[in-house]
Amino acid sequence: MRISFPTRGTILGEAEIDAVAEVIRGGEPLTQGIWRERFEQQFREYVGTRYAMSVTSGTVALETALRLLELRPGDEVIVTPQTFQATAQPLLDLGVDVVFCDVEPDTLDMDPAVLAQLLSDRTAAVLLVHYGGLPARMDEIVSLARRHGALVVEDCAHALGARYRGRRPGSLADIGCFSFHGSKGITTLGEGGMVTFDRPDWAERLDRVRSNDTDYEFLPYAGPEHAEPPLLPWMRYADEVYRHTCTRVRRAGTNATMSEAAAAVGIVQLGRMTAATLRRRAVAERLDAVVGDFAHTRTHRAAPGDEHAYHLYTFFLDDTNRRETLVRALDRAGVEVQLRYFPLHLVPEWRARGHGRGACPVAERSWFEAQVNLPCHPGLTDDDVDYLVEALRACLAQACAS
Ligand SMILES: Cc1ncc(COP(=O)(O)O)c(C=O)c1O
Repeated sequence: MRISFPTRGTILGEAEIDAVAEVIRGGEPLTQGIWRERFEQQFREYVGTRYAMSVTSGTVALETALRLLELRPGDEVIVTPQTFQATAQPLLDLGVDVVFCDVEPDTLDMDPAVLAQLLSDRTAAVLLVHYGGLPARMDEIVSLARRHGALVVEDCAHALGARYRGRRPGSLADIGCFSFHGSKGITTLGEGGMVTFDRPDWAERLDRVRSNDTDYEFLPYAGPEHAEPPLLPWMRYADEVYRHTCTRVRRAGTNATMSEAAAAVGIVQLGRMTAATLRRRAVAERLDAVVGDFAHTRTHRAAPGDEHAYHLYTFFLDDTNRRETLVRALDRAGVEVQLRYFPLHLVPEWRARGHGRGACPVAERSWFEAQVNLPCHPGLTDDDVDYLVEALRACLAQACAS
């Protein structure tokens, strides 16, 4: 048997096929129509924000959200190192100074105690991830950031289905950014994203940014008097007497419009969320029970009352040699192990900007010495889960016997 990380993080079935068929058969526009409207409405109700605006990926959600912040060269942005590169990638070209803030050893979320030392009057924004779907300590982080006038952006790519003190990630700070990539908790046909927030001025701005940021400008009628004005405002005449419509590009916009078919699938997927999250949680609880039976281990658990989304199942074996033995044994047993994520401040593009080893010792120790990620997703059958649990028990016994 082989237990792998999923090529799809969610279940896709007949209901999604029917949703796409309905869009195609309906004959309505394939973009900017009722399905996007409905998906956004349901998403904002789910997350609990005034606005939820869809885009074409989680990366684009982060890019467009960061544009809303109007960062200026020389501003400082504090970022978690325990994430996929897309979180900080949009910052590479903005001329801002990036500071990596270390994480807590047990949650791998941004550590408020470290953040308190890094914040300064130059800090324009804090950019964090709810790592693996475990909510960060948002109340502390937001109140620290507020004291310095900094905005807080939540990368919620892993956190759909999680809950923090009764509220949903994406509603806990200034802006939330979601990914609907095929590997995530829900997908909009492989790619997609959402930006959530409460500010009406940001809604207006983002709506422009995601649709080429154009203004339609009607110039005054420039020709001699006609008995009748041209019927269509953009009509052009041979003698060059015309009313002219010009399209004025205000600022660098893009086309990040989610298609109607993708949005229709998103609605169905959102309906599957609760069941899928409960399934992930049930698998994680069985794995945690095994891990808890062994010395030198730590589980990755939400604080009491909070809910983990388990986009990733993570635990720690605090002994480099034992972890090595465990990973080899799991591989032989057919269980895929991945380590997520290589500390971001150590990748070449951030090293080239002066970041390096020692800046975030907790994130470094976790990846190099302790962390283990195992498959945990709704596509696992009961037999798969039984096998995974027993393989983990046997392999941990072998690793910890040494
Ligand atoms: C933490 C995090 N942020 C952002 C992204 C980017 O999302 P997308 O793949 O939809 O662009 C990912 C994707 O894996 C992610 O894991």
